[in-house]
Amino acid sequence: MATMINELAINGGPKAKTTPSIPMYPGGLEIGEEERQQLNEVIDRKYLFRYYGPEDYPSKVREFEEKFAARMGAKNCLAVTNCTSALISALVACGVGPGDEVIVNGYTFFASCASIVAAKAIPVICEINESMTMDPDDLEQKITPQTKAVICVHMRGAPCDMDRIVAICKKHNLKLIEDVAQACGGSYKGKALGTFGDVGCFSFQYPKIITAGEGGACITDDDLLYDRLMGYHDTAACWRPDRFGGERYDGELFCGVNYRMSELTGAVMLAQLGKLDRLVSAMREHKNQIKKQISGLKGITFRKLNDEEGDTAICLMFMLDDASKVTPFVDALQAEGVGAAGVFNKGIPDWHIYSHWKHIIEKKTPTTEGCPYSCPHYKGDAPSRYSENMCPKTNEILSRTVHLDIPSQLTAEDCDMIALGIRKVAEALL
Ligand SMILES: Cc1ncc(COP(=O)(O)O)c(C=O)c1O
Repeated sequence: MATMINELAINGGPKAKTTPSIPMYPGGLEIGEEERQQLNEVIDRKYLFRYYGPEDYPSKVREFEEKFAARMGAKNCLAVTNCTSALISALVACGVGPGDEVIVNGYTFFASCASIVAAKAIPVICEINESMTMDPDDLEQKITPQTKAVICVHMRGAPCDMDRIVAICKKHNLKLIEDVAQACGGSYKGKALGTFGDVGCFSFQYPKIITAGEGGACITDDDLLYDRLMGYHDTAACWRPDRFGGERYDGELFCGVNYRMSELTGAVMLAQLGKLDRLVSAMREHKNQIKKQISGLKGITFRKLNDEEGDTAICLMFMLDDASKVTPFVDALQAEGVGAAGVFNKGIPDWHIYSHWKHIIEKKTPTTEGCPYSCPHYKGDAPSRYSENMCPKTNEILSRTVHLDIPSQLTAEDCDMIALGIRKVAEALL
């Protein structure tokens, strides 16, 4: 019996997408000759540490910092080991510590929140809205006399509502740290993400847009914050003009850690930075091509974009009108050969949604004293409200959301097939 062209693959019809699926490693899949050449230079020179070696050479890490700052339009860049260390350094540099609350959205990789606890402060979890980023209304409601800073996350590649978030932080005199781990190369109203707050933090871990397997960076226009970032990230003080000199100003010296980036990482990142704009424009083109072909489908509401032009377009997210429709929709899409996933399901663990952050909800700490929750400097009561449902709007939105990666390596044919798959499934099931 002949199958109809529009019969769902899950019911035995032909697949909409017949080309191989491409994993989501935009920069990772492009690692090649440029990275090899940069690495060879480091190996040939035996210059693996940014500050010194058997012979003097210009540091690859320093060159990366200068080029990254220039690309982002920031005054200073400090390369570090990863984004978690960038976030912790940013919090410390901003003076966050015992007794302080830091507001972060409940849809983000857990590290954005864990970094607050590592900096000895108390996380306060904020709702997202249909942009999948921080809800500015809830942000304002969550501010207390203890609030010192905000970490806003440009989640899944797209900008937060920076006009409102910056205005709220200014009004309440709060430090603003941007978590740009998933949105390197994105912008808001023409200005690079990471340059709106006091510090912008980036990740170069493997699935990120550009990558060295691991790596991170902080950018800031504030010279004092830059000094404090350097002071924290390198307790050996190699960064100081006179390493063993006395304090140049009150508060310059304090105990830090070692989050220094290696020259091997710096070399790979230099090559990857040269690919950033091409990767982002490819993803934007693919996403536009798919979106154009599925706009107006009944039962599908696209994620709201605070600035569509600034979206890095790493993914397509849309909401269905009812959470119960997500699993059948995603199963049918997968049968069509289209890689898709639901975003939130209480039964399926995922470190990107606060409801699964047991360490926070149960206030788990590495020692029995329970710091920072038991800290005598802390006068607030936010942790008493921690629960799996403390941000119900976030759960409601994410439970209705479908997510598709948009690899930069997709072809135009792949995009047409993905759009066809979504159309087929939406028309049959919604
Ligand atoms: C939003 C967000 N913030 C922070 C991080 C932590 O980055 P890293 O693994 O470089 O420490 C990640 C990593 O996935 C992330 O997605």
